[in-house]
Amino acid sequence: MKAVRLLPVLLALTASLPAAVVWAGVGEGQELYDAYCQLCHGGLGEGLTMGKPLTDSSARNLADQELIAVITNGRSGTGMAAWGSSLSETEILDVAGYIRVLQGGTGLSGIDSASVASNDPEVLAGEQLFNGEAACATCHSYREQGGSVGPALDGITSRLDNDGLLQALSEPSASIVDGYQAKIVVQQDGTEIRGRYRNDSDLAVQIQSADGRRWVTYFKARVASVSDAEESLMPATFNGLDAAQQQSLLAFLKSL
Ligand code: HEC
Ligand code: HEC
Repeated sequence: MKAVRLLPVLLALTASLPAAVVWAGVGEGQELYDAYCQLCHGGLGEGLTMGKPLTDSSARNLADQELIAVITNGRSGTGMAAWGSSLSETEILDVAGYIRVLQGGTGLSGIDSASVASNDPEVLAGEQLFNGEAACATCHSYREQGGSVGPALDGITSRLDNDGLLQALSEPSASIVDGYQAKIVVQQDGTEIRGRYRNDSDLAVQIQSADGRRWVTYFKARVASVSDAEESLMPATFNGLDAAQQQSLLAFLKSL
């Protein structure tokens, strides 16, 4: 019978694969990889014409966060596209974990995908809002990703209770987090810069640029004025969202 003959072949095949490929619990990672990645990277990550090996030292040396970032954002100017908008965060973690398995490991080291990404649709909708339409991520980070004009929001519910959280979102200026106050610098040509500041000596003041990436020093003698801003740098975007959006954003923040 055919099936009987097939068995040794199957066993031989299984034995020739790294054991972890067969046994690892990396969720849907293998399925996703086979569907979207093997075309360029090869069925076992050995590399094909259109993509490089994922089992060589350069790929092994990527830290988990870097691996996730390459898959999410792609590499501009190369055949490696950004998968962040077609795969969910969980799927990206699963496929990254599977790459570790192809490399002979057992998955992502520092990250427990179950605790990082939620499957709750409301939380996921809130996360999309946070990173998309509501643009919270331009100023706030979570899990090391995002802006630094406002505080990182990991574990936010350990700092703010429900009412505190609602107030932070709907009346940002009511109470301003220490270290995140803003100053207003008026330059001699009248241009006004509002930004988070950290240093304020007799001579100069340092203001974080609006994109959060740099700290810019303004010499007091060369600007028209420097004053404290009463208002938070944070816009009350929350108030303009509909009830369902507010719910999902809150659910997401509480999941952090
Ligand atoms: C159209 C071909 C193509 C597809 C499909 C593709 N990649 Fe790539 N990938 C590339 C190329 C080309 C590079 C090398 C980019 C460079 O030169 O830095 C790359 C690089 C990478 C790297 C970085 C490796 C290193 O050593 O720095 C990772 C990780 C990766 N791809 C994962 C994936 C995953 C996961 C998928 C499926 C979701 C995928 N790729 C789909 C072409 C592809
Ligand atoms: C232009 C930058 C900016 C944007 C955009 C922004 N924030 Fe903020 N956020 C801040 C700053 C600065 C603070 C700290 C000052 C304060 O308390 O108002 C802050 C404070 C917070 C706090 C309180 C944090 C704490 O530790 O007490 C929460 C929660 C928060 N923001 C959530 C959000 C959400 C959700 C969005 C998107 C709807 C958002 N922020 C958009 C700048 C921003």
